[in-house]
Amino acid sequence: MLIPQPAGALQVPARPSNQADAPAASHPIQLSLVLPTYQESQTLASVVRQLVALLDQALPQAYELIVVDDDSPDQTWALAAELTRQFPQLRVMRRQGERGLSSAVIRGWQVATGPVLGVMDADLQHPPQALLKLLGHVQAGADLAVASRHVEGGGVSEWSLARRFLSRGAQVLGLVLLPSVVGRVSDPMSGFFLVQRSAIAGPILAPAGYKILLEVIGRGNVEQIAEVGYVFQERAAGESKVTWRQYGAYLQHLLKLRFDGHRSRWNRLKSSRQLPLARLLRFGVVGLSGVFVDMAVLYLLSDPSTLAWGLTRSKVIAAGIAMINNFVWNDAWTFADVSSRQQGWSARLKRLLKFVAICSGGLFLNVLVLNLLFNQVFGGQGRYLANLIAIAVATLWNFWINLKLNWRVTQVPRDK
Ligand code: GDD
Ligand code: MN
Repeated sequence: MLIPQPAGALQVPARPSNQADAPAASHPIQLSLVLPTYQESQTLASVVRQLVALLDQALPQAYELIVVDDDSPDQTWALAAELTRQFPQLRVMRRQGERGLSSAVIRGWQVATGPVLGVMDADLQHPPQALLKLLGHVQAGADLAVASRHVEGGGVSEWSLARRFLSRGAQVLGLVLLPSVVGRVSDPMSGFFLVQRSAIAGPILAPAGYKILLEVIGRGNVEQIAEVGYVFQERAAGESKVTWRQYGAYLQHLLKLRFDGHRSRWNRLKSSRQLPLARLLRFGVVGLSGVFVDMAVLYLLSDPSTLAWGLTRSKVIAAGIAMINNFVWNDAWTFADVSSRQQGWSARLKRLLKFVAICSGGLFLNVLVLNLLFNQVFGGQGRYLANLIAIAVATLWNFWINLKLNWRVTQVPRDK
């Protein structure tokens, strides 16, 4: 028996509605995990089998798996329906006339019967074992537990540098456009998480594209967040449905959340506390020390009374040394608590390279803002005031992006 497809607004009810098709469980359901599928007939059976093996141990009789299939041409829904005979904890929705990953997930949550809702890919790229760790965190009181590629124990398997860059670029864009949402987790693109029903029930959800987690954080009432590292596996079969269109949808989603004014009270409260001021101050002091290092080296190399090298060559070296100076102090002082947890030369080198990349972006921004202000806003006057503002903007950028992507401090307990 297939689950009837809900209609109307994408809204999760505070209390589960009676589900005629739901398995008559001897225990109340504690976890409802949605598996969105489109053309996954090659992997679905294996995912379900692995999940059942895990959850029969962890939550005997007290979980349900909900496949929401968008009428796949390969009939994933029919295969799933077939599997329900063997696995009574499995329920299946065949969705027609509506498509898309994020809305599929919410439709699944609408028919869910448990107090904890979740989502996981059905293509084996999300390792099922991580689910139990996520579960541990929500049972311990987290409103949201996210599987992350960017905390300890996390990663991607065989991604090219270009792909990593693209993924990080999307995250930076989000950090700039919607910091109070995107800045709260290390992997805002994750499609593998558990959330308390109470944290997401109520608001009408309007996700665009793939990134359902943005919607949950942006419109839900999510206070405590936990993260669990996982390695994003390569696809063994079938293919990804991500296309270039998803990048456009992502941008649209960010802007919609930004301008909707639908942000929860909690997030508004939170954003005022987003900037760790003491850390920012240390970052500023280190930046200032860099100015002196730059000046001193420039003097030593280019002054007629010393080495008298060419100005450009001297300046490039001076700036390079200043940057290394700043990195060393930031690593040892500004972000000492973070770097002490990630020791070793290769980790340090990686941080240095990221620092240089991020600060190069900052330099670009610096020049851009200076030009915009001086030429467009101030009408060719007040270059020093313009420069001061440009420096402030670039410093904030350098600080914020380094905080979120380089010396990563999540405001959450890490998975040990
Ligand atoms: N019902 C439904 N409708 N399911 C869909 C649709 C859709 O339109 N598009 C994709 N899915 C299902 C797939 O069948 C798969 O189970 C899951 O959603 C993820 O889709 P993929 O196409 O495999 O995405 P990906 O591997 O490139 O991206 C995944 O990883 C990203 C990084 O963590 C997804 O989980 C993304 O959400 C995630 O951001
Ligand atoms: Mn996938």
